[in-house]
This record gives sequence, structure tokens and C-alpha cells, in this order.
Amino acid sequence: MKYPIVKPFLPKNHDYTARVNAIFERNWLTNNGPCLQQLEQQLAEYLNVEHLLLVANGTLALQVAFATLDISAKNKAMALTTPFSFAATASSLCFAGIIPEFIDIDPATYNINIANASEEQLNRASAIVGVHVFGNPCDVANIEQVANKHNLKVIYDAAHAFASNLNGQSVLQHGDAATLSLHATKLFHSVEGGAVIFKHKADYLKAKQLINFGFNAQQFPEFVGINAKMSEMHAAMGLCVLEHIEHITSWRCKLAKRYTELLEPVKALQLQAWHEGGGNNGAYMPVVFESQDTLLKVQAALSNAGVQTRRYFYPSLSKVPAYGMHGNTPIANSISERVLCLPMFTDLTLEGVDEICNHLITALKTLQ
Ligand SMILES: Cc1ncc(COP(=O)(O)O)c(C=O)c1O
Repeated sequence: MKYPIVKPFLPKNHDYTARVNAIFERNWLTNNGPCLQQLEQQLAEYLNVEHLLLVANGTLALQVAFATLDISAKNKAMALTTPFSFAATASSLCFAGIIPEFIDIDPATYNINIANASEEQLNRASAIVGVHVFGNPCDVANIEQVANKHNLKVIYDAAHAFASNLNGQSVLQHGDAATLSLHATKLFHSVEGGAVIFKHKADYLKAKQLINFGFNAQQFPEFVGINAKMSEMHAAMGLCVLEHIEHITSWRCKLAKRYTELLEPVKALQLQAWHEGGGNNGAYMPVVFESQDTLLKVQAALSNAGVQTRRYFYPSLSKVPAYGMHGNTPIANSISERVLCLPMFTDLTLEGVDEICNHLITALKTLQ
């Protein structure tokens, strides 16, 4: 494909090799090594957050957040969450024995609309698990208000929200916990990796113990833990990529702006509306068609032209039997059937965006 849907950002080979050589010299490969400590500190500074804990991936980040906040099968927990997300949002809940109950989304922002949750659901729930979909901040003020009223924990799956700001501050500052995925395809990555940002230091300290089997300072497993540690090799990649983060974020924002300028006038397409006070972080480029039929035809035409696209997120998680199918979510079901993500990666050029948009617009015209 001339234009893949994503292309992981790679630093210079010799920059990574130099860090790996230092790891070989130290022979300290994992368990809170120097690269991990440095990456945690630099990321916390860059994102302007406190209590940031690195973990092995974004799915474990969610599981660690739930366990740390005592949302578990043991407490017969049910969480209100969005059906418009990647499988991991729901599967991490199910894996922990927490029942996901799906609440419909806002048709413009594609984020959970907590006003769609009934009093009965809010009274039964233990937590709200929102997703800042495609990096777009959730309505955090409203969610916080509802959560406070009903004594619910709030966890944000912020897998897409690296460098996403709300009113000039990182959106990761919101929630009892916010989780990142640092997977190779993400805006910032460490090959595989994740992070949890906790509101409270006590939760951060508990999670630090939890990701290392629950061991205390005497190496005694004080409570049930898991192995969710990030290795030095992964942290070294994170450090290399972080050196380029200004270029990555500013360039991807330019790409998103160009896509928006070219596609906004196209009547047959709907673009995601950004939450007031939030700005597009250039993580993804979703477009919504008028029908699934149009989507499938355009997707085939783009593929023939060398443009790879992805039905992200399809199907709606509320239609997946394995996740329990609790909740009535017609808006999310409809958008899931009609949404397509276009290529978005740091190596993409503005000319590339122009070419992709030309192919897309031509395909739409051919269908008229
Ligand atoms: C919304 C969302 N949550 C969680 C994850 C899981 O992250 P990871 O692949 O690092 O486990 C992803 C991955 O793409 C995601 O898109």
C-alpha cells in the first residue's frame, strides 16, 4: 500500500542502539531500571501530571487501574462505559469480572454521554469508564459531577489522548485514574507499553506494588498482584521517541488540520466535533459516511488506489456477545457502522493528505 493506515515512528537506529548498549553494560534489564525511572520522570514533566506509573501495555494499564481502585468482581462491580471504543476497554473490565454496561455516545463528539445513563444505572454502578475517543476529551466536568453525586470512581481510557489538552491542561489530569497505551501505532510509543496516571499518591503507591506481584519492601506478597512491569528495552525506545515528541505532535496536528480543511466542505461526510476547550492532537483521522454501503464502496476504491483504511471502531462493543451486550446504544451502533479511519502517521506528507482526500472525494462523486 502506498499509504498504510499507520506507520510506527522510529528514532535513529544508532540512538536506540546506544541506549541498548548501556543496558547491556549495566545488565539491568527490568524491575524499575534506570531507563524506566528516567522515562517516568520525563513523561510526567512533559505531560505535566503527577503519579505516573509505566506498565507493560495499555490493556494492563486499565486492569491495574481497576484493581487499584478496588473495582472488582469481589465487590460485584458494574461499570458504565462507552460502546464506541477498542475491544480492550470492555475486555479489560470483563477480564476483571466487572460487568460493562454500555451507555450511548454523543453523536457529534463520539464520546460517552453520561446524560444517557438512568438513575437506576447510576445507583447500581461502581464506576464510569470513559474513553477520550481519538484523543477528543470527554465531557469531564459533567462526568465528574455525576460521579460525585453517585459516589462513583472515574477511570478514563486515554489510550488515544497523549498530548491531548483541555483548557490548556493535559486531559490526563482528570479522573481517579487515566490510562495510556504506548503501543507502536500510537502517537507516542515504547513498542509495547502503557501508563496509569493516578489522582492520589496513595493509589499510585499501591499500583506500584500491584504491578510487581503485590510485593512489599520485604518481598512479601501483601495482596494479590500481577506482573505488569515495563522492561528497560521498552523504556529505552520510549526515551528515544520522546526526544522527537515536539516534531511528532506539531506535524500530526498540521496533517489533521489539512485533512479537516479538505474534508469539512464535503457534505456527504461527518467529521468528529472536538470538545470545547480541546484541540485535535492528530492521533487519528476518522470520517463518518451517510451509510455503511457508501463506506464499503469508498473503502474498496481507496484500497484500489493504494490507501489503507480501518473500520475503527467496528462493531459497537454493545453488540459483542462476549462482553455481555448490556445497554441500548443506537447512536454508537450507527456510527460504528459508518466510521472509517484514514491514514495518519508522522511520516505522512501534506501532499499525501491531498492525494488521499482526492481519492476519497472522487470515490464519493463516482457513487452519486
Ligand atoms: C481505546 C483503547 N484502549 C485500550 C487499548 C489497549 O492498548 P494496548 O494495545 O497498549 O494494550 C487501545 C489500543 O489500541 C485502545 O485503542
